[in-house]
Amino acid sequence: MFEALTTVSQMLARNLDILSQQPLLVCGQLEDNLPAMLAEAGPAPQVFTTDFRYFQWQQQGGFTQVEFGTQPNQGAAGLLLLMPKAKAEAEYLLAACLPLLSAGAPIFIAGDNKGGVKSAPKLLAPYSEQVDKLDSARRASLYRAELAQVPKPQVLTDWIKSYPLVDSELIIKTLPGVFSAGHLDSGSRLLLEQLGPLQGRVLDFGCGAGVIAANLLKRQPELLMECIDINALALEATRQTLAANQLDAQTKVYASDSLRQVSGQFNHIVANPPFHAGLKTFYHTTEHLLAEAKKYLLPGGSLTLVANSFLPYPELIEKSFGHCHTLAANSKFKVYQARLS
Ligand SMILES: C[S@@+](CC[C@H](N)C(=O)[O-])C[C@H]1O[C@@H](n2cnc3c(N)ncnc32)[C@H](O)[C@@H]1O
Repeated sequence: MFEALTTVSQMLARNLDILSQQPLLVCGQLEDNLPAMLAEAGPAPQVFTTDFRYFQWQQQGGFTQVEFGTQPNQGAAGLLLLMPKAKAEAEYLLAACLPLLSAGAPIFIAGDNKGGVKSAPKLLAPYSEQVDKLDSARRASLYRAELAQVPKPQVLTDWIKSYPLVDSELIIKTLPGVFSAGHLDSGSRLLLEQLGPLQGRVLDFGCGAGVIAANLLKRQPELLMECIDINALALEATRQTLAANQLDAQTKVYASDSLRQVSGQFNHIVANPPFHAGLKTFYHTTEHLLAEAKKYLLPGGSLTLVANSFLPYPELIEKSFGHCHTLAANSKFKVYQARLS
């Protein structure tokens, strides 16, 4: 899954002499075995990831210096940030990691030129007087700065943003990089409109900021809701959303890569699953959900999901359940449902 080196790592491979001068704390858009490449060239890095799947993959590969969560506890002699997709997430990661370094420590930022790495000088301005571009190749760039002063440890709650959902009288709490940052996604809205009364145990698959769980619990506080996601910041946002609306009493929120860490069976699985045209891993997650959901449903239980209309999910649902009902459609999304007989 993460085997091939990304073009960013290929560019970093030309700079191993500089990068391997000190053990680095590595974080951000980790999509390959860059930690092993660094460990081969010099001192083993410390890895911090908010992605549960990457965390597990590193652990399974025998790499133990890896932390999963909302912020790291272990520092190193320098930082290498791989530019994440959202600039706010890059700001967050710098604020989370830099307090663990010493003054004078090197800070490297690397990323795809199309992925916002050019904002590295701006991102580093609060922490350093000078930012140098060290390399640019394979449509990727590497910047370096020196930490002028060790910043104060960040407070996670300072990063939480809120927005109201007027229809349901809910407050949604989000963190950098979490889906549905400023408004309810129109796909999630269409899905919620189709969901009638539910019962028993309900799984919110890929919970993001917890909008689906919060809406369902607001309607039916008696539901036994479980919320899963691979993103630590999404899980924390969900916890914050549920707490802000006093809906957290009997809800479980935990990390799971697709259904892999889920146990037992549910009356309903609801999902606005990850989509990202062209990114194979996202497609695999939903494929896994559609193929495996049956095993996690009680007799009479249902799987309901919303997806971009062009995605080939009806065929996959039919293959798994023997049928697939389209409950709603608009110009962009469709809501599908299948039941276990
Ligand atoms: C389209 S968003 C939906 C978020 C939220 N349910 C909503 O409606 O706003 C999909 C979510 O799936 C999560 N996700 C991605 N891959 C996953 C995986 N393998 N297992 C579980 N969740 C995953 C993402 O982190 C993201 O929060």
